[in-house]
Amino acid sequence: MNIILLGAPGAGKGTQASKISDGFSLPHISTGDIFRENIKNRTPIGMLAKSYTDQGLLVPDEVTCQIVEERLGREDCKNGYMLDGFPRTIAQAEALDKITKVDLVINIDVDFSLLLDRLCGRRVCKDCGESYHITKLNGETKCARCSGELYQRKDDNPETVQSRLDVYKAQTAPLIEYYGKKGIVFNVEGNAAPEAVYAAISAKLNALK
Ligand code: AP5
Repeated sequence: MNIILLGAPGAGKGTQASKISDGFSLPHISTGDIFRENIKNRTPIGMLAKSYTDQGLLVPDEVTCQIVEERLGREDCKNGYMLDGFPRTIAQAEALDKITKVDLVINIDVDFSLLLDRLCGRRVCKDCGESYHITKLNGETKCARCSGELYQRKDDNPETVQSRLDVYKAQTAPLIEYYGKKGIVFNVEGNAAPEAVYAAISAKLNALK
């Protein structure tokens, strides 16, 4: 099954992607993670991406689409995949339609009032990418999954988060209608605890098996 995870920054896409990947053996492809890896390794793509991600703006479509097309062509995507953070514009969705068929779009719907706190309190594992919220860590600085060190993302500060939310509303939210017209959107309420959100998603995925 080919799945897209849609939702505002902080909606819980990465959190749910990790659970879905474990539960349904689907490769988790996050364009944000790909850019962060390139930034860490100081590649040309990373240098370009950094100038956008630091401001909470989108990396240009041509660059992003090329990366995704290459990634989806790899062996591990032959039997399905899960995209997290792509597409983010109508142009990206149209480019994706030319290379693959999307079966399901999971739209995680969260009150915007929760997102600033979720993002500014987020800590991420530098090794496996698992996300935590600082209020649940009780001072722990290592990942419960792999013991990697936890860090705060550079774009998780109030000013950049506001910019990311504005970009989401203007450029990404229209995708709900784009995929809605194709009849493949599954809306899930994302205000609940991660386990409850995952229960709703896994019930849907099991029903489609
Ligand atoms: P990206 O890494 O994709 O960031 P994002 O979309 O802003 O999403 P986040 O990763 O911040 O949030 P999330 O929904 O995954 O939330 P999470 O599960 O971690 O992109 C970063 C940048 O890269 C972009 O700004 C852009 O510059 C560039 N980029 C990426 N893709 C691109 C594209 N396609 N085109 C162009 N540019 C692109 O959860 C957040 C927090 O909330 C965590 O602390 C978590 O523990 C907590 N939490 C999660 N779920 C719940 C819950 N149900 N209840 C309570 N707390 C919860």
